[in-house]
Amino acid sequence: MNGSTVVVYVVAATFALAGTGRVDAQMRMPHSPAGPSSPSSGTSGEHGAHGTPSGWKFSWPAGNPAKGRDAFVKLECASCHEVKGEKFAAPTDPGKVGPELSQMSPLHDAEYFAEALINPSAVIEPGKGYAAPDGSSKMPSFNDSVTVQEVVDLVAFLKSLKPPAGHSSGGSRH
Ligand code: HEC
Repeated sequence: MNGSTVVVYVVAATFALAGTGRVDAQMRMPHSPAGPSSPSSGTSGEHGAHGTPSGWKFSWPAGNPAKGRDAFVKLECASCHEVKGEKFAAPTDPGKVGPELSQMSPLHDAEYFAEALINPSAVIEPGKGYAAPDGSSKMPSFNDSVTVQEVVDLVAFLKSLKPPAGHSSGGSRH
């Protein structure tokens, strides 16, 4: 897989295919020949005519939390995010620091974390200095440098985190 293929996968496949990509997507569409020449009919239309099945929901694949932790270290996510219970070096840039992440797991679905990674500006908690002057997230995009599998594993790592003992996350939203 070359670099540009990876980018295309991150941008497009993350939304559309999930998991290992094409094979997985074909298996999810038993009524579709899924040949490369069959045009997409978009988001509406009969399932039998290759439209999206009613009730379809994007399903985020399971990942490997240990590999996700490796990616977290490699990508230096800890330069902006504290993770309680982990021994990462403390965040270094006060102007760009993001939320502590061990408390987030019970609050969010995997899909929410996926969006936080591939589209950081989609949801920004107001009033915390998380946004740049132009309104975008201070969190950079990693879409050019991560593989889809790394995103999947990073999400698994984030979901595996547990708030520190004694910390109550009840009622608080992040
Ligand atoms: C330059 C600083 C910076 C780096 C590096 C960074 N982030 Fe962030 N991150 C932020 C800021 C600021 C926010 C809050 C604004 C937002 O939600 O986009 C944030 C938000 C998040 C959220 C959403 C938290 C929530 O509950 O809403 C997740 C998850 C996250 N980051 C994970 C990561 C991961 C994983 C990496 C490494 C691949 C990373 N971040 C790298 C600054 C950073």
